Amino acid sequence: MPATPSPATPSPAVPPVAADPAAAVVPTGRGRRTLLLGIETSCDETAAAVVARHDDGSFEVLSSVVSSQIDLHARFGGVVPEVASRAHLERLDPVVAEALAVAGIRGRDLDAVAATAGPGLVGALLVGVSAAKALALVWDVPFVAVNHLEAHLFAPLLQEPDVAFPLLVLLVSGGHTLLLGMDAPGAYRVLGRTVDDAAGEAFDKVARYLGLGYPGGPAVDRLATSGDATAIAFPRSMLHDGLALSFSGLKTSVVNHVRRNPDVATADVAASFQEAVVDVLVHKARRAAAGIGAVGMSLAGGVAANRRLRARWVEAAAAGGLRAHLPSPAYCTDNAAMVAAAGLWRLAEHGPSALGCGVDPNLSLADD
Ligand code: KG4
Ligand code: ZN
Repeated sequence: MPATPSPATPSPAVPPVAADPAAAVVPTGRGRRTLLLGIETSCDETAAAVVARHDDGSFEVLSSVVSSQIDLHARFGGVVPEVASRAHLERLDPVVAEALAVAGIRGRDLDAVAATAGPGLVGALLVGVSAAKALALVWDVPFVAVNHLEAHLFAPLLQEPDVAFPLLVLLVSGGHTLLLGMDAPGAYRVLGRTVDDAAGEAFDKVARYLGLGYPGGPAVDRLATSGDATAIAFPRSMLHDGLALSFSGLKTSVVNHVRRNPDVATADVAASFQEAVVDVLVHKARRAAAGIGAVGMSLAGGVAANRRLRARWVEAAAAGGLRAHLPSPAYCTDNAAMVAAAGLWRLAEHGPSALGCGVDPNLSLADD
């Protein structure tokens, strides 16, 4: 990943094809709304959701089903791509059926089907995209390819219809750590990013080293509540270096500290490590928010479920006179409701995607 922030660029996400977006809006008993089935299979969660977009642009989640593969990957200490693809194949049909049943609709009530087309594991992505295209053909509705990173940015909009812009978004997941300026849905600027490990990756690697299992983030989060966050002064890497972030040195510091102090309390290591990560994330986010004149600060991505980060985020926003946006933890980690919301917005603004479009394991958010 490049070390320097990228210039302002509107996100192309997934290229649309020409179409009449209004054609997908169907009047229903509850007024005009567009109903879309979202599918997410980019990594180790098989997920499907039915979400409605109302004429005022607000979203309504009718169902959101997530089948986690944690049990399958835990013994390997991380996600095994081939195991993930097979599990998606087995689980996707029942997960879609459940999403429709919970929403109380039939496939032919839908106006469109969307799926994550990247970034992610290529085999895993193909399962979701192929299924979504097939369902779109069967139900004779448009297909929409969704960028997984953009989907994470829609998580706050799922629950809060009145989000004001510009917004500073910290997108922290297993594969990405991005500071973004969001001027509107679809208009993103990458302000900063990690030069090495993603924040979630650091949580997972440290947890693995400490023997806390997989996935590491939730395990560290839990253990940290019984530890002393001031016990060990781990480094705050690149704290004063613009908006770039780095976590691999911190991970090495944790390993070195535990080697030199084998009797150290694991809870203190977890709490001190977590505090170092959160300190840097919050510090940089505040600076980035000030730099773009943001009116709000939003968290997104799996690490946004971290309780210490959420608490510090609220404090930081209040200190800066900004609104804090915190999607529910279930909408921070991978889910299909966020994919459906991004798909609904793309459909309305840009129309359907071509059925011939493929998946892109390295899809980026901005054209950088
Ligand atoms: O967004 P996500 O579900 O999948 C990706 O797109 O990567 O993020 C997964 C990451 C993992 O690294 C996981 O350890 C981390 O989010 N994570 C957490 C917490 N819950 C999930 N990290 C810290 N604290 C948590 N509570
Ligand atoms: Zn994700």
